[in-house]
Amino acid sequence: MTQDELKQAVARAAIGYVVDGEIIGVGTGSTANFFIDELAAIKDRIKGTVASSEATAARLKGHGIPVFDLNDVDSIAVYIDGADEIDASGAMIKGGGAALTREKIVASVSKSFVCIADGSKLVDTLGKFALPVEVIPMARNAVLRQLAALGGQPKVRVKPGTDEPFVTDNGGHLIDVAGLSITDPVALENTINQMTGVIAVGLFAARGANVCLLGTGEGVKTLS
Ligand code: A5P
Repeated sequence: MTQDELKQAVARAAIGYVVDGEIIGVGTGSTANFFIDELAAIKDRIKGTVASSEATAARLKGHGIPVFDLNDVDSIAVYIDGADEIDASGAMIKGGGAALTREKIVASVSKSFVCIADGSKLVDTLGKFALPVEVIPMARNAVLRQLAALGGQPKVRVKPGTDEPFVTDNGGHLIDVAGLSITDPVALENTINQMTGVIAVGLFAARGANVCLLGTGEGVKTLS
């Protein structure tokens, strides 16, 4: 099976976690896109969605799926999203697609988090994938120095083909920290959250996934 077929298989399996009549939180990225396409087929069963990025909102609306502002919603039954890395405890690195802050906000108010990923995302120790950190632009270099002191190699994410910082949906900049071996994800998430100027860190450990659907050559495996 190709990687896209594995992503499609977990996206289809995630439909089993959609709660009828409720609001569904929807993530960002290629796996989440497959999920959105599956959700379109059962859109009449749900009340609507909350999107974790402008790109996701546009794709949902393109399918005629209602998208609510989080401020107009009392609760979200389930949040469904991909990950860049996930460990056996459900802790994840996210934000390769630059949507980490809104993903974290939507996940934080959802009753459960279902992670959908191809099997290559499962790791023993998080950190091979560079850890994204979203920052207020004026604090970019100050935070970068603090991240370097943690032992990794932080690098400002740039707009493709330029030297200019990439700008997120929130107007923030991103720093990707390579070379970390994250043996205590909750502690590192807390440490980076304390840095003044950090908007959010792409470590989802204090609030990780409740269920992970992993696409493998032998079918979809469920970790919970
Ligand atoms: C978006 O900011 C990310 O957190 C994505 O959820 C993550 O990068 C997974 O993306 P893919 O599904 O494209 O691998």
